[in-house]
Amino acid sequence: MRGISIGLGLALSCMALSGAGPISPHASYALHCSGCHTMSGGGAPEAGIPDFRNSVGNIAGSEAGRTYMMHVPGVVSAGLTDAEIAEVMNYVLDAWGAGASPFTAAEVTRRRAVAVGDVVAERRRVAAELSGAGIPTAQYPWP
Ligand code: HEC
Repeated sequence: MRGISIGLGLALSCMALSGAGPISPHASYALHCSGCHTMSGGGAPEAGIPDFRNSVGNIAGSEAGRTYMMHVPGVVSAGLTDAEIAEVMNYVLDAWGAGASPFTAAEVTRRRAVAVGDVVAERRRVAAELSGAGIPTAQYPWP
């Protein structure tokens, strides 16, 4: 009997971790994003993880930037629904986006359907567009 209830407890916690149960945007960020981006949003620029601070909100202020954000590998591979992507991205914008407008699930769906071939080239285009308008973005070492 005891073995069964321990097994059930484990199964339930695994379900929560795999996304079968609703988790908060904070928990979703901690689980899916913080391993690379860190809980402070500082990332690891020397390892190619851009700093969110003073940057991600600027990217989200650009039309092309908002589409780019939906195609970064960490978001594509997280296995989240469009609504969950909107939630976790809005957590990022709330924390480090300085007033950028939030995503709706419908906007995520629309932007994910846009083909973005080379995400690194796209990031460079967005950064050049913003820099031309005097708006900074975080350092980005990818070739
Ligand atoms: C395995 C590491 C990793 C994980 C996990 C990860 N990312 Fe990233 N993220 C990156 C890297 C590397 C970049 C730089 C873009 C690229 O991949 O070319 C990036 C870029 C971004 C950017 C654009 C920032 C910029 O300055 O270009 C956003 C927004 C972002 N990630 C959000 C997320 C969110 C939200 C999650 C969680 C659902 C997440 N990432 C998970 C590695 C990761």
